[in-house]
Amino acid sequence: VPLSSLSEDQSLYFERQGTQIVLIYTNHEPKVFDSACPHLGCLVKWDQNEHVFLCPCHGAVFDDQGKVVKGPVNAPLKGIKFEIKNNMLVIA
Ligand code: FES
Repeated sequence: VPLSSLSEDQSLYFERQGTQIVLIYTNHEPKVFDSACPHLGCLVKWDQNEHVFLCPCHGAVFDDQGKVVKGPVNAPLKGIKFEIKNNMLVIA
């Protein structure tokens, strides 16, 4: 993903090797997560107005670091490793 194509609070969703991935860009920084909720696996969505991830199934809420804001889940979103090369964000 070209870094120049990302804008503040943007989210991108894609699949890689069977994993649903969400990329967000907040505070001038990209963050990448497995979008499967650690509760029962529903796919979370980024709410750019509230600045949180919402799980549509049982109402879990996660912050932009993937940390739990509201249950029923106790575990954070799983981070996905990436690197920046030549102004491109590359998923590891
Ligand atoms: Fe996300 Fe239950 S699957 S809160």
